[in-house]
Amino acid sequence: MHLDQKISLKPFHTFGMEVEARYFIEPRTKEEILTLLNYRNMIHMPVLILGGGSNLLFTKDFDGLVIRIKSKGIEVHESDQDYVRITVQAGEDWDPFVQFCVERRWAGLENLSLIPGTVGAAPIQNIGAYGVEVKETIESVHFVEIDSGIQKRFTNDECDFGYRESIFKKSLKGKIIILDVTFRLLKTSAIDISNQEHLKLDYGLIREELWMMNITRPGISDVREAVCAIRRRKLPDPAKVANAGSFFKNPFIPEEQKNVLCDRFPSMPWYPEQFDVKNVGLNSDNPVMFKIPAAWLIEQCGWKGHREGDAGVYPDQPLVLVNYGNAGCQQILDLMKRIIDSVSDRFGIILEPEVNIH
Ligand code: EPU
Repeated sequence: MHLDQKISLKPFHTFGMEVEARYFIEPRTKEEILTLLNYRNMIHMPVLILGGGSNLLFTKDFDGLVIRIKSKGIEVHESDQDYVRITVQAGEDWDPFVQFCVERRWAGLENLSLIPGTVGAAPIQNIGAYGVEVKETIESVHFVEIDSGIQKRFTNDECDFGYRESIFKKSLKGKIIILDVTFRLLKTSAIDISNQEHLKLDYGLIREELWMMNITRPGISDVREAVCAIRRRKLPDPAKVANAGSFFKNPFIPEEQKNVLCDRFPSMPWYPEQFDVKNVGLNSDNPVMFKIPAAWLIEQCGWKGHREGDAGVYPDQPLVLVNYGNAGCQQILDLMKRIIDSVSDRFGIILEPEVNIH
């Protein structure tokens, strides 16, 4: 393992900000991560864990140790006739892992195709897209506590997953390093080809895309292809235009507020969700909440395609803020604040950032 000093973090996160880490290291195995923690605990300094760096906005240099997880390995446990269990090291890239599963006809992750980042980062914000969240396939998460070096394995329940949430973003935030994740996926080679029950096609755009692809009886590789096509069309490729995916979370509001807004803005889309009360800190007996697309709210406030210098709101998906070249952190933060203020003034809804701001 090589410890670098005063390293630019620009190549290691997708927002492309010119910021520096005081120390930087890339452990390539679980053992290297554990060794590193022993050493770190002797010198005490702030630690930042980096996976693919695809959900981060740096606002300043990081005066501590950045640990970029590069541990690789996929271990397949043949569990039973219908399901397969797979343990994946945290540093594996997410989309190649999804492809690995789809090629073997293991279902469950195909809707999550082409999401940037690493496997270790996936449970932290419970990545989700096109009607699926990763929590549906995670059996357990194995991690180490940074301060004590103690390893633990949390079951799915213990991870306390919610919409873009988990215990790793709440009480364990900044305190642990995920070492590996165990998934449980359905073996579709074992089921009748005409059985489509395992496919998640309810997110409208998927059926539309499959229809455009002329596919009437899709398999999981068709779903993957459809999702990749939608994402390529709607979302900026971080390799071409720097961004961190959805910058904001979709807000959830109670029914009363939804009704008042619908009267004033009849075209406002809304989706009812059975909400897990503990994950939003609500004190309500009625956990049905209404998800309002932040993209719609932002578009209504006139931000879609807006650009100031190199900072902008992506024209095809206003939920995504982009850095067209040399936008500074402050420029993105200013834009974020103005968007939040205008949505709040017009709709009384406070948008929350989805990206991790450091
Ligand atoms: N919309 C607009 N204007 C637009 C685009 C969208 O009004 O220009 C409205 C429409 O009503 C549309 C709705 O927003 O029906 C939903 O749009 P979309 O399907 O693109 O999904 P999203 O809710 O905006 C979420 C995730 C995305 C994920 C998509 C697809 C969050 C914060 N974002 O976006 O995740 O790909 O669903 O499932 O939940 C990411 O996290 O980086 C990410 C891209």
